Amino acid sequence: MNMISTHKIYSHTGKFVCTAKSNETVLKSLLNANIFPTFSCGSGRCGQCKMTINKGKIEYNLTNTVKEQIDDNEILICAALPKSDLELVLSI
Ligand code: FES
Repeated sequence: MNMISTHKIYSHTGKFVCTAKSNETVLKSLLNANIFPTFSCGSGRCGQCKMTINKGKIEYNLTNTVKEQIDDNEILICAALPKSDLELVLSI
């Protein structure tokens, strides 16, 4: 059984954004914190929610994400589960 851990999300400016549970998507954690990034399908298929990640590790909760549409330094936040503290390029 996987342990649920809690991580922190920071913006690229170093500002603390919110906490994020390892069993919830980055998108859900941001929405819970009243931050509303661009997204559409919410299920890893459209690529609309891609975001640049400077630091940190994620895993995808879906196997059919459109990973070919994103670069190595980008993540699909609607399907990404945080596995460490993250630093994301987002304006807040
Ligand atoms: S919102 Fe469509 S891939 Fe994330």
